[in-house]
Amino acid sequence: MSNEKMHIDPYEKKFMIIGIAVLVIFAISITIAGFMLGIQVPSPGQLIDPNTVASEGPYSDPGLKELSPGNYELYIRAEASPWRFYPDEVTVPVGSRVTIHVTSADVQHGFKIQDTNVNFMVLPGQESTLTYTFKEVGEYPYICTEYCGVGHQNMYGVITVE
Ligand code: CUA
Repeated sequence: MSNEKMHIDPYEKKFMIIGIAVLVIFAISITIAGFMLGIQVPSPGQLIDPNTVASEGPYSDPGLKELSPGNYELYIRAEASPWRFYPDEVTVPVGSRVTIHVTSADVQHGFKIQDTNVNFMVLPGQESTLTYTFKEVGEYPYICTEYCGVGHQNMYGVITVE
């Protein structure tokens, strides 16, 4: 007859409960972030040749393009040496729905628009895309968030919503 219970040290038991609770909290957080806050993961499906990105295609003439009233596409090219975004000044009417496309012509950069959920890595050979609706008038600065060389701190711009 063996009705011995498995012995678990009380501290170990507490540790296991905390570990499982943390996993449950993370799973709930990811679900809320993905389905309720609209957090999206950049798709690696959008590939582009970094060698020709500055000379042909939409990034050779970057900026805002109107698709229909209130509906825009914004192409931004990130470059090092000189370190800057092309363009670094954008103006959109309030309420505009803007699909933002960013790519790099050289090294890894980042792209974050302050006070929005637009925040992604910018890799040579890939397009990072996210759609955002600018509902409030104001200035929305954007910066490079990945260290990309000695001029990294010079990579910024601003979207003016009016
Ligand atoms: Cu580009 Cu840091």
